[in-house]
Formats: sequence, C-alpha cells, structure tokens
Amino acid sequence: MLPCASCLPGSLLLWALLLLLLGAASPQDSEEPDSYTECTDGYEWDPDSQHCRDVNECLTIPEACKGEMKCINHYGGYLCLPRSAAVINDLHGEGPPPPLPPASHPNPCPPGYEPDEQESCVDVDECDQALHDCRPSQQCHNLPGSYQCSCPDGYRKIGPECVDIDECRYRYCQHRCVNLPGSFRCQCEPGFQLGPNNRSCVDVNECDMGAPCEQRCFNSYGTFLCRCHQGYELHRDGFSCNDIDECSYSSYLCQYRCVNEPGRFSCHCPQGYQLLATRLCQDIDECESGEHQCSETQTCVNYHGGYRCVDTNRCVEPYVQVSDNRCLCPASNPLCREQPSSIVHRYMSITSERSVPADVFQIQATSVYPGAYNAFQIRAGNSQGDFYIRQINNVSAMLVLARPVTGPREYVLDLEMVTMNSLMSYRASSVLRLTVFVGAYTF
Ligand SMILES: *[C@@H]1O[C@H](CO)[C@@H](O)[C@H](O)[C@H]1NC(C)=O
Ligand SMILES: *[C@@H]1O[C@H](CO)[C@@H](O)[C@H](O)[C@H]1NC(C)=O
Repeated sequence: MLPCASCLPGSLLLWALLLLLLGAASPQDSEEPDSYTECTDGYEWDPDSQHCRDVNECLTIPEACKGEMKCINHYGGYLCLPRSAAVINDLHGEGPPPPLPPASHPNPCPPGYEPDEQESCVDVDECDQALHDCRPSQQCHNLPGSYQCSCPDGYRKIGPECVDIDECRYRYCQHRCVNLPGSFRCQCEPGFQLGPNNRSCVDVNECDMGAPCEQRCFNSYGTFLCRCHQGYELHRDGFSCNDIDECSYSSYLCQYRCVNEPGRFSCHCPQGYQLLATRLCQDIDECESGEHQCSETQTCVNYHGGYRCVDTNRCVEPYVQVSDNRCLCPASNPLCREQPSSIVHRYMSITSERSVPADVFQIQATSVYPGAYNAFQIRAGNSQGDFYIRQINNVSAMLVLARPVTGPREYVLDLEMVTMNSLMSYRASSVLRLTVFVGAYTF
C-alpha cells in the first residue's frame, strides 16, 4: 500500500512522483515468469485472467486522501491531488488499459513506459510494438506513455470504424468532383483547368497552348475559335484555312487577267501595258518612256500595246521631204502633174471592238483660201469599207469608223483633200496618209 506520500499542487508532477515512488522498488527476478502468482504492491493476482490486477485503493482504503484532496487510483498505486487538479485519465481513447505486466516482470515504470538498460523509464511505442488496439481502418499515434487511435485525414469515425468522407457531397468543386479514399479531386470541363485553389475552374487559353488553328486563334470562354486571314476561308474542319479563288468570283476583278494567289489575287496586263490602279491596264508609251529601240533616223510611233519605228524620211520619188512628216511633189517636176501636191504622214491608234459609228480622226485644211471649198475622200486603204468621211464644213471633215474592228490590225488610209476655187479655176489635191493601228484589246 502506498500512502499519499506527497500531495502535489498540480498534474505536472504526477508522473515525476510516480517514477520516484515506483523506481525505488527493487526489480524482481525474471527467470521463471510463469511460476509466480505474487503481485507487486498495488496489484492483486487475478486467477481468471492469470494477470496481476490493479487494486483500486481509493475504494478499498477508507479515507485514502484526507481533507480537500481527491483520490486518484492508478495502476499500482493512488494519488491524492487537489480537487482542481486536472488528471490525464483517458490515455487510450476507447481502448482498454494496456495489458498489465505479469508479476514476474514487475515494471518499475509508469504505464506506457519501460525501463531501459540504465533503468530509467522510456516511452513504449505501442504502435510500433503492436501493443495497440486500433482498428485496421484507424491510425495509431504514439504518445508519451500512451497512444491514440485516430482516423486518417479524409475519414471520419462512424461507430468503431473510420469511413471515407464523401467530400463531393459538400459541393467543393465548381465543375466536377471525384471522391477518392481519404480525399477528393476536382475536375473541370473541357476548355477549363483547375484554378490555384484546386476547386474552381478557369478558362484555358487554348490559343496559348497550341490550339490547332492554322492561321488565327481567338480564345473564348471554355473554347476557342479559328479564323483565317483575309483571302482565306475556314475549312469545314474549323481549323485549317483554304485560299479563296477570288478570280472565280467575278470576271470584272481585272481588266485583263486575274491571277489567284494564296490569300489574294492580282491583275496582270498584256505585254505593252502596265497595271493602273490594281485592275486596269494602261498602254505603255514606249516612245515616251524611252523603252523603244528606234534609231536616230527613225521616228517612234506608239500605239495600243506596242510601238513602231518608222523612217523619218518616208518620201518616195518624185516626192521630196520638206519636214519630218511632210513630202512634197515639186510642181516643176512633170511627174507631179497628176499627183497630189503633198503627202502628210500621220499615225493613230484605236482599241478593238469600239462601238460604231465612231469618230476617229478630224481632218483640217491647214491653209484656208477665201471662197475655197475643200472636199475630202478616202482614196486608198478602205477596201472593206470600214471607214467613211463625214464632211463637217468647207475646211474640215471627220473620219468615221463604220464597223467594229478587232486587232491587232493596221490600216493605211490615204485621205485626200481637194481644194477648189471655182472663181479662180483653182484645184489642188493633198493627201493625208493616215496609219491606223488597231490594238489587240479593248483597252
Ligand atoms: C493543388 O494541387 C496541387 C497538386 O496536387 C498542389 O501542389 C497544391 O498545393 C494544391 N493547391 C491548393 C491550394 O490546395
Ligand atoms: C464654203 O463653200 C461654199 C461653196 O463654194 C461657199 O459658198 C462658202 O462661202 C464657203 N464657206 C467658207 C466659210 O469659206
């Protein structure tokens, strides 16, 4: 029997006291453990369980503690403590007290402790030595002098067992929740990914993550859209882009030829033309631009789609040249008597398929004699009747295209002007030798 040797003010010194008291007892011989039925002080032999059983001194000793002290039974002894003292008396949770040491192994240490070689008491790891009674679903935690059975995170105790908590019932996840043993995981719908809190779902910018758009990518909430550059249209697959054949849409895109290119189109012009304002073709004046190959003795004549080098001196006998484009038949030469007194060379160019009748060239008498009358006619080069002359007045007339003509083609028309003055019995003839180039195109 242990009296209340010292009445301590608090629980802190409880174990220190017990260690002091029990450590003083002499260790028993452990050679023949089963032959003893004697128990150390504070225990009595229980024949049923074949173990030493603690004696509850608080019940068996009258007035075990005096005065205001309360009696605390403990294995192998008892304590008297102030009534306010907190006592650790539920060391094992639900578990029963650990098995008691048999009498042959008197443990001089408090429960949950055992003596080491130096005979000081060290904590017993009940979890490690399988001395606990935690359920397989529970986790064992060693404590100083004791142990604790608890449920792992994500489990909760229902009856004696730990049962997985279905966190998904608590709507932790913004989109989808997957319950896992002991935990849960949130999942997001396609196009979203878990936010930093692992619960909310944030839009994925697929465009930054290798979305399969061939040309342009636009992120949108939960998805993305592919778009194409100008001149392309989105393929049915929604990702790739097909070139638009603009040329097939309209034949008016280009004046001459439309050439489709990836994403665009361009207009081309025939040789001798240059592109004007992206779709029109404009004749290149090679004579102006200096592209021509005419020599010093030649004159460059531009026409629709090309140019011509003509000899500056085009006069043939008996005509003699009097200026760049003018040949004169001297009156002194008998051969000139029946010939037009002068031949003037002129050039002009028209496009194909002009609507008719079309005024193409105005002839004007250069010298006007009072009372003179000028008659105009086409003397040569009009065998098909493609042109006619419309007299305007005494001094001028208009060359008119009578039929639509298609080039490339060339007419050399001799337009004769006969000047008459009846009063003076004067009659003179001169010729305008007009070369008409008809271009190959309508422009
Ligand atoms: C989210 O999950 C990742 C990976 O499992 C983890 O590293 C991170 O700590 C979690 N964040 C939060 C806020 O729980
Ligand atoms: C035009 O010729 C007619 C006939 O010869 C003549 O009567 C008339 O005066 C002339 N007109 C001019 C403007 O010369």
